[in-house]
Amino acid sequence: MQIILMGAPGAGKGTQAAFLVERYKIPQISTGDMFRAAVKNGTALGLEAKTYMASGKLVPDTVTIGIVRERLAEGDCKAGFILDGFPRTVEQADALNKILDEQGKKISCVLNISVPSEYLIERAVGRRVCKSCGATYHVKFNPPKVANTCDNCGSDLYQRTDDTASTMQNRLAAYESSTRPLIDYYKKMGVYSEIDGRQTIAKVTEDLINVLTSVKD
Ligand code: AP5
Ligand code: MG
Ligand code: ZN
Repeated sequence: MQIILMGAPGAGKGTQAAFLVERYKIPQISTGDMFRAAVKNGTALGLEAKTYMASGKLVPDTVTIGIVRERLAEGDCKAGFILDGFPRTVEQADALNKILDEQGKKISCVLNISVPSEYLIERAVGRRVCKSCGATYHVKFNPPKVANTCDNCGSDLYQRTDDTASTMQNRLAAYESSTRPLIDYYKKMGVYSEIDGRQTIAKVTEDLINVLTSVKD
């Protein structure tokens, strides 16, 4: 299955991708996670991405499309994948169609986790992420059992540098201008579904799985 998880910053893409990976045994491909790993490792890609990410702007399409093209060519994507945070522009969506065409695949389903903007700043500012395994928590909505400690692996949690109220304004603006148009784009392709992301994490997962079980692959 080729799944695209769409949604504004903080909508719950990463949280839900973790459940879908477990259930469908296909990899999560998060461009945000790939860029953060590159920044951490100090690679050329990381140096380029860092300035855009720090201010909440989108990394240029040519760079982003290049890393996704390479990633989708890897063996673990053969049986499918969950794209999290890609595509985010019409140019990226066009490029993805082309890549999948070349691979003889098609998009099975675009799942948009829809959350109004008034929820999103609180979600981002309260997010905490595990330094080792990447598990995502929220200080209020999904707290770890022991404060600042990962339930899965016991490592410390950290706060993403772009999870501030001011950077979130730019991230939300980038979403509105560049990514929201993809809703109509995928509606026209006939692969679009919307899930109410204001619900609890467990209910959102349930709704996503309900849609996916009805998808013909
Ligand atoms: P990226 O890492 O993709 O960030 P994002 O899209 O802003 O999304 P987030 O990761 O912030 O949110 P999420 O939807 O995954 O939410 P989560 O599940 O963590 O991108 C970062 C940057 O990289 C971009 O700004 C850009 O610069 C660059 N970039 C990445 N991809 C790019 C691309 N394709 N093109 C160009 N540039 C790109 O949940 C958030 C919080 O809410 C958590 O604390 C969670 O516990 C909590 N939560 C989740 N669900 C619920 C719920 N149902 N109820 C209550 N709380 C919830
Ligand atoms: Mg994420
Ligand atoms: Zn962990």
